[in-house]
Amino acid sequence: MTNPASSSAQQGVSVVGLGPMGSALARAFLAEGVPTTVWNRTRARTEAPASEGADVAADLASAVRCAPTIVTCLRDHRSTRELLEPLPAEDLAGRTVVVLASSSPVEARETQAWADARGLDLLIGAIMVPTPLIGTEDSLILYSGRKEVLERSRPALEVLAPRSEYVGDDPGLAALLDTGMLEVFFAGMTGFLHASAMATAQGSAAADFAPWAKEMLAILPAAFDGLAAAVDAGEHPGDEDNLAMELAALDHIVRTSRESGLDSRFPELMHGLARTAVDRGHGADGWSRVVDMLRTAPAPEAAQAG
Ligand SMILES: NC(=O)c1ccc[n+]([C@@H]2O[C@H](COP(=O)([O-])OP(=O)(O)OC[C@H]3O[C@@H](n4cnc5c(N)ncnc54)[C@H](OP(=O)(O)O)[C@@H]3O)[C@@H](O)[C@H]2O)c1
Repeated sequence: MTNPASSSAQQGVSVVGLGPMGSALARAFLAEGVPTTVWNRTRARTEAPASEGADVAADLASAVRCAPTIVTCLRDHRSTRELLEPLPAEDLAGRTVVVLASSSPVEARETQAWADARGLDLLIGAIMVPTPLIGTEDSLILYSGRKEVLERSRPALEVLAPRSEYVGDDPGLAALLDTGMLEVFFAGMTGFLHASAMATAQGSAAADFAPWAKEMLAILPAAFDGLAAAVDAGEHPGDEDNLAMELAALDHIVRTSRESGLDSRFPELMHGLARTAVDRGHGADGWSRVVDMLRTAPAPEAAQAG
């Protein structure tokens, strides 16, 4: 009996967009023996997948016509829509387009509405791992929107990521989680780099600081749980530590940064948020109170000055 779960992969896929990520997606399909057709605006980029066994489509319409599942991995959603827009409806009929470009939640919802208006089966995903992890056990792709489309395409998509997680029916949700996770990632990396700049300015090495940075990292999972509970409850108890004390700690970071001759904008940003909260009478509250400062956009002139 045909296993419908495996058939979507067996029938093959087309990969449209062969930047570093699209190329990694094509490589993962080929490594699993999935018949794979590729197309890219700049044809030279098809050479590597072709040497690994991919068929190279002569044009985009041919790439779309030759597989039931089309995975697009372009720079963003707008370029994806602009690329697909001129295709005749009959070329796309009965096919599933899986859009794996990063976007904002609003843009992802626009893409879903655009597809719905054309009767196009479209699924939006957010890739949460770098290229070397695609196709490995550690690969993670979040999907939201049309669950039935994910389930139909799951066998092919699990080749890219065994953890192909459906997060909800809002088509913008995968992008929302993606942007939040990226913010945590970049904030952590920037904090580490600023601290490393302080360390190296003062005669130490970043490698000597790294183990101590990891000590702080180990505290964060429990801290995130506490912050999430406080944000959702709208209650910010400062029983164990409070903003007045934390402002003093941030004073030390800003001072050390300036004494080291560095660009101090990163610690000044955190300091400014805590300062505002204390000035508004929240000195006895916990750090989670900062969320209320972040919820209010600064006046345009203040934003410009910053
Ligand atoms: N690389 C990663 O580690 C990573 C991780 C997670 C998510 N992502 C996401 O994956 C997506 C692709 O990223 P990437 O790393 O492969 O590189 P990228 O530089 O973001 O995307 C390059 C691809 O987009 C195509 N493209 C851009 N504008 C186009 C247009 N107007 N019409 C047709 N094709 C267009 C390029 O075609 P040409 O070759 O012709 O220029 C190329 O195939 C992005 O949304 C990125 O945020 C990447």
